[in-house]
Amino acid sequence: MTASVSAATGPAAAPVTVPPITVPPFAVIPGAQVQHALQGRERQIVELVEATYRLHSAGDSVNPPSYFLRFPDRPSARIIALPASIGGRTRVDGLKWISSFPANVAAGIPRASAVLILNDHDTGYPFACLESSIISATRTAALAASAADWLSRGRRRPTRAGFFGAGLIARYIHTFLAATGWSFDEIGVHDLSADSAAGFRGYLEQSGTASKITVHDSAEQLIRSSDLVVFATVAGQPHVSELSWLGHNPLVLHVSLRDLAPEILLASASIVDDVEHCLKASTSPHLAEQLAGNRDFLHGTLDDVMAGRVTVPAGRPLVFSPFGLGVLDLAVGKYVYDEVVGSGELHVIDDFFHELRRYG
Ligand SMILES: NC(=O)c1ccc[n+]([C@@H]2O[C@H](COP(=O)([O-])OP(=O)(O)OC[C@H]3O[C@@H](n4cnc5c(N)ncnc54)[C@H](O)[C@@H]3O)[C@@H](O)[C@H]2O)c1
Repeated sequence: MTASVSAATGPAAAPVTVPPITVPPFAVIPGAQVQHALQGRERQIVELVEATYRLHSAGDSVNPPSYFLRFPDRPSARIIALPASIGGRTRVDGLKWISSFPANVAAGIPRASAVLILNDHDTGYPFACLESSIISATRTAALAASAADWLSRGRRRPTRAGFFGAGLIARYIHTFLAATGWSFDEIGVHDLSADSAAGFRGYLEQSGTASKITVHDSAEQLIRSSDLVVFATVAGQPHVSELSWLGHNPLVLHVSLRDLAPEILLASASIVDDVEHCLKASTSPHLAEQLAGNRDFLHGTLDDVMAGRVTVPAGRPLVFSPFGLGVLDLAVGKYVYDEVVGSGELHVIDDFFHELRRYG
């Protein structure tokens, strides 16, 4: 039933129609639809992710700590829950539930798999379940591209990119960098797996890049020959500890979060996406905090840089460590949902919610 109330501004005011509160239909959005909604929209997605990130930094979100489910019998695996709520005009709540099973890769299937649940702002009802490994990779790559742009302002813009770890996330980050105007004279690749390095090289060649591509067997060579270094490994503990490898003061997108020894962070300029999120779960910034006994090594957040509150010091490596925020998944997921609704191809599961009368 539609309720009608008069606005309390006097007898001449027009009646205001309040929409009925109803159970929203429940939809399932598979990966092909997600990919179709996002492909070729990289610039738009970077703008969306930046705007959502600013909204979060301004406090118009709820983004509690991620919850890590780990297993004694499968120590390399984990499933992470990222609940979040966005205010602003988006007004949506939800949860990303993302698995990381690194051993999958040897079996020929991706490491990460995920779903994103969107919940209705007014009723709390879940109204969509989206395939979310693509959404997760997309929001990660979008913020990485944004950070590369903001953090290279006022410095020499990098011309030699080095991908340290060459899986799906590295591919998405390269795609987003290329689509947002970056071109590199040289692209270096280093991966413990020769197959991954060769696969990434194949992707780069197919992407039509004009960059000279070099696969480096040595981590040191990759870092020394890159002024933009992207870490996208699955390392659980720091494995790069030689500060001299970064003597040329590269910009480092430390997306996999646990590659750099804490001593390197203490000697670098360090920027994170969110301080409370990032200084957890044995990330390198978390280890640096434990080693130093304080957070003084942090120069600020990417939002501080965007807003001009922080000027990044020159003359040392600049490391961006993004923990990854559930609000960004929500924003990209809602964008996908709206696109699919707009296309008229939303796949609704009829009568998903069944027990709707209180007393039967
Ligand atoms: N910060 C964020 O917001 C965010 C979001 C998504 C993913 N990630 C992280 O990105 C990383 C990469 O994800 P992916 O899906 O591309 O994984 P993936 O398994 O597809 O690829 C990882 C690659 O890293 C290589 N590798 C592992 N250890 C290495 C080492 N020490 N040196 C060199 N190469 C090494 C592996 O051989 C593999 O090819 C993961 O750690 C993931 O948790 C971070």
